[in-house]
Amino acid sequence: MAKTNKTPTCSVLQQHRCKFKPVLPEILKKGACFVKPKAGKATQSVADQASVKKIFPNTYGMPEITFVKGANPAIGKKAIKMAVVLSGGQAPGGHNVIAGLLDGLKKANAKNKLYGFLGGPSGILEAKWKEITPKLMEAYRNTGGFDLIQSGRTKIETEEQLAQALETLKKNKVDALVIVGGDDSNTNAGVLAEYFKQNGSNINVIGVPKTIDGDLKNDKIETSFGFDTATKIYAELVGNICRDVNSAQKYWHFVRLMGRSASHITLEVAHKTHPNITLVGEEVLAKKMTLKQIIDYLAGIIAARAKDGKNFGVVLVPEGLIEFIPEMKALIAALNDLLAEHEAELSKMNGITEKKEFIISKLPAKLAALMKSLPAGIASQLMLDRDPHGNVQVSLIETEKLLIEMLRTKLADMKKAKKFSGKFNSITHFFGYEGRCGAPSTFDANYTYALGFNAAVLALNGCSGYLSSVRKLTRKPQSWECGGVPLTMMMNIERRKGKEKPVIRKALVELNGEPFKQFAKKRDLWAKTESYFFPGPIQLFGPAEVTDMITCTLAFERGSKK
Ligand code: FBP
Repeated sequence: MAKTNKTPTCSVLQQHRCKFKPVLPEILKKGACFVKPKAGKATQSVADQASVKKIFPNTYGMPEITFVKGANPAIGKKAIKMAVVLSGGQAPGGHNVIAGLLDGLKKANAKNKLYGFLGGPSGILEAKWKEITPKLMEAYRNTGGFDLIQSGRTKIETEEQLAQALETLKKNKVDALVIVGGDDSNTNAGVLAEYFKQNGSNINVIGVPKTIDGDLKNDKIETSFGFDTATKIYAELVGNICRDVNSAQKYWHFVRLMGRSASHITLEVAHKTHPNITLVGEEVLAKKMTLKQIIDYLAGIIAARAKDGKNFGVVLVPEGLIEFIPEMKALIAALNDLLAEHEAELSKMNGITEKKEFIISKLPAKLAALMKSLPAGIASQLMLDRDPHGNVQVSLIETEKLLIEMLRTKLADMKKAKKFSGKFNSITHFFGYEGRCGAPSTFDANYTYALGFNAAVLALNGCSGYLSSVRKLTRKPQSWECGGVPLTMMMNIERRKGKEKPVIRKALVELNGEPFKQFAKKRDLWAKTESYFFPGPIQLFGPAEVTDMITCTLAFERGSKK
């Protein structure tokens, strides 16, 4: 056999995965020239209808759209130029959204063109972009990451930024802009759609629901893309930890999981792995739990297991927990104000101890006592790690370490009182970035491709101010329904940076929702036993039962799992 010295440009698995052809919903298969938009009833925003309507006079109340079969030849007659931007944190499947957009455009008219703004929304303001040709796209199909055009967190908010965005698009004769992002980025998409209409422009703006956090969803948007893959990756890791815990039987592992606000990721991973303890931020808020009560709850389970000779276990902690604890939220808000107010005095102080004592002296008594009770490291983090706006960077706070330090003190006290006789050796983990750029699962590969293709069909139909909606996701992809949901329909008014703003409402874990209720039924058993599940790695090849598995959250919410 002839020897070849050719170095492969990507891994063997990637070479095979590149060949995967996502399954398109039947309705989209023939392309945009063979579907028609069917308009539903006029819509209302989720709350604050009068205020939202006033801010969005041109795009408020538009009907929901469902695509149905029908000849639509006019769509293919005129070649269009579309631009796409990836906004916010990475999520598996972003490249397939772009592939779906490209294929959807080309199927309607080979002369249609797709451009990608580079580095997120700032790419629009700085007019930095590149053409996404079919050739360029090839190497990125079914891959994780956003590296084809990168992402960023710039917001297009001010009057100047909005005008600049319109100018870039007009100057370059762009007909449609697709914004792939979470709740904030899609709020921005709604604002841009309205602004363009108000300024007499026909540029269509379409959103695509992205975020591993899973908190951009509602009746018509059943899940955001990336949640499926990210939770499968975290669940594999947590499952492996559960196995290790049960093998060594000597450590308590505390795992903090990404999810800036909502606890969907943590809850999904709990369903997949059955850890001994799972904290859910939304429950902590609903029960108005204090930090002390959370520590008491954890210590109770740790002591009960120790009684059975089990000085080991696994605890899941959602990244956003700290902001759900009412007293911590109040402390963070007070610190934000005090640190801004006394910036000059604080900058003259040398050590953190002096700064801490100064701040404590200014806090109301209850919050001062809480600040004093926090471990020194965490109190310093609260004071030192500030973002450019001067706010505490909550995602940098190592909540798992805070819990462990407080538990050590609590368990030592319990030992003295003869209420705890075991050992408490702990190990910490934070899983976030490990899952955000993973190669998309088969579900996410199909879903993102469909979302992109569908967004192209929406744009070609002149729909602006819509979020690409692919639904009935518990069915096989062939039978998924496609259409669009008006962005204004998901909005309400919230206070942001001291001002009332229209924003897409975040979907938090609902305590009367099936995913939480099912978890609540099982958690006591999981606390006492080692009922661990080991989901293993994402399967890209093999029986459909494993390759096409959907999340427990989706199955519980859409009724396909009991
Ligand atoms: P998006 O909501 O933009 O999708 O980002 C989600 C997320 O991954 C959170 O889970 C996490 O808290 C945050 O991004 C981290 O942000 P950064 O990438 O800026 O560190």
